Amino acid sequence: MKAIVVAVDQNMGIGANNDMMWSRDLPADLAHFKKVTTGGSIIMGRKTFESIGRPLPDRENIVVSSKPVGVSGVLTAASLQSAYELARYPIFVIGGGQIYAQAIDNVDRLCVTHVDASFPDATVFFPQIDSATWQEVFREHHEADERNKYAYDFVVYDRV
Ligand SMILES: NC(=O)c1ccc[n+]([C@@H]2O[C@H](COP(=O)([O-])OP(=O)(O)OC[C@H]3O[C@@H](n4cnc5c(N)ncnc54)[C@H](OP(=O)(O)O)[C@@H]3O)[C@@H](O)[C@H]2O)c1
Repeated sequence: MKAIVVAVDQNMGIGANNDMMWSRDLPADLAHFKKVTTGGSIIMGRKTFESIGRPLPDRENIVVSSKPVGVSGVLTAASLQSAYELARYPIFVIGGGQIYAQAIDNVDRLCVTHVDASFPDATVFFPQIDSATWQEVFREHHEADERNKYAYDFVVYDRV
């Protein structure tokens, strides 16, 4: 089983300036991400790894890059396919844009946080989720609250 984990805005924007636009404003999504991915193998592009800045604990960290990352606790893979082959646990592809674009055709599940806001400065986008390919199997809505600036939905799509 391979899954993508991603948070998108209303226009499918996922990033700007090598960061997520809502990073400090949606702690519930960070907690959700941790819950979903803990115990798995997380596969990410080199830019996303640099944005996170460190290997994430309790997960096997695999970075896709043309050159070795050279950080203790991180495996480097020269392609997405080699990352899949290296992974020893359930696979979660965690971005960014380049890696999602290559992975969306070969994963079974999309775990998507739909953030109820739009960010015009977004420069990196997730592909459109085509309803002929992806069926919504779970949705949990949350309103904004004192800690989370925007409303958001946790949604799971499985390949039809
Ligand atoms: N909203 C979300 O859920 C979410 C999640 C993750 C990231 N993001 C955002 O996404 C943005 C980063 O995405 P991005 O598209 O710029 O970069 P990225 O996908 O994170 O990383 C791109 C890098 O991955 C490596 N790479 C990609 N395909 C490869 C291949 N086939 N073989 C070997 N190496 C390959 C290359 O590294 P080398 O140049 O080292 O070869 C490439 O420069 C940031 O803004 C980040 O905050 C958002």
